[in-house]
Amino acid sequence: MALVTTTEMFEKAYKGGYAVGAFNVNNMEIVQAIVEAADELRSPVILQASAGARKYAKNAYLIALVKAAVETSDIPIALHLDHGADFATCKDCVDSGFTSVMIDYSGHSFEENIAESKKVAEYAHEHGVVVEAELGTLAGVEDDVKVADDKAQYTDPDQVEEFVKRTGVDSLAIAIGTSHGAYKFKPGQNPKLRLDILAEVSRRLPGFPIVLHGSSSVPQEYVKIINTYGGALKDAIGIPEEQLREAAKGAVCKINIDSDLRLGMTAGIREHFAEHPDHFDPRQYVGDGRKYVKDIVAHKITEVLGSNGKA
Ligand code: G3H
Ligand code: 13P
Ligand code: ZN
Repeated sequence: MALVTTTEMFEKAYKGGYAVGAFNVNNMEIVQAIVEAADELRSPVILQASAGARKYAKNAYLIALVKAAVETSDIPIALHLDHGADFATCKDCVDSGFTSVMIDYSGHSFEENIAESKKVAEYAHEHGVVVEAELGTLAGVEDDVKVADDKAQYTDPDQVEEFVKRTGVDSLAIAIGTSHGAYKFKPGQNPKLRLDILAEVSRRLPGFPIVLHGSSSVPQEYVKIINTYGGALKDAIGIPEEQLREAAKGAVCKINIDSDLRLGMTAGIREHFAEHPDHFDPRQYVGDGRKYVKDIVAHKITEVLGSNGKA
């Protein structure tokens, strides 16, 4: 199947009460794990590349890997720029074959966010590419950007209609209590998303696809493996899966997951070395990491997103 935009994916997901997983890709094994799981479960999937991924793997490699994924599978796949910092970054991805870009100007003023998002939407649409923008600020760490908990801000539902109308973007990422990274809540804190804000946003934007970033659940079985074999992850807490499932049944059409894949890869590699300290062939230990990444993606598709059988 060809590389597609998210337009049809989101229309079907909205109507069907499920969400499409947007998984971050940084190397070949991660691409393979995601696409194999999605292909076996007949699920559409979004492969997304952050600025960090583009710097680490190089844009041309990532595009070639995604092209290979398209050739070797039979599901709809979109290639998305995650957290595009400005118009120039988004333009670069539109020009190099991405089918979807995110302009993340959420850290700027409302008016600046509108102006930059509109500029990106106009350029992308001229080239058949779709655009995600963000309103509200998530806490957590994304590569170079660190947002302290007290600087994070829930999306204001009063702003969403004006924002979407004036920018012309195709989907909107909102802040309802998710955050980037593996430390989303403090021990003892009630890990509760503001599903009331989501409901109000969807009421104001009927039929419009909503995106959730920072949606890793931080599965404790992988944290435990990492810690058993010499890791030191303390109090890593994620988003309860049932709350994400609830969001996916409504207006949320795209759910972003990166940290959980990192945990899976690391758990597989640590476990491998604990069992085979003499190994030094990367295919052996990275291959074991890949297995866990695939397991995690399969679990997300069936238990959180509900996108199995929707390809
Ligand atoms: O939203 C952030 C993603 O987890 C990407 O992280 O910027 O370290 O690649 P990164
Ligand atoms: P996590 O850190 O929760 O996996 O979030 C990833 C993300 O939002 C990528 O844009
Ligand atoms: Zn994100």
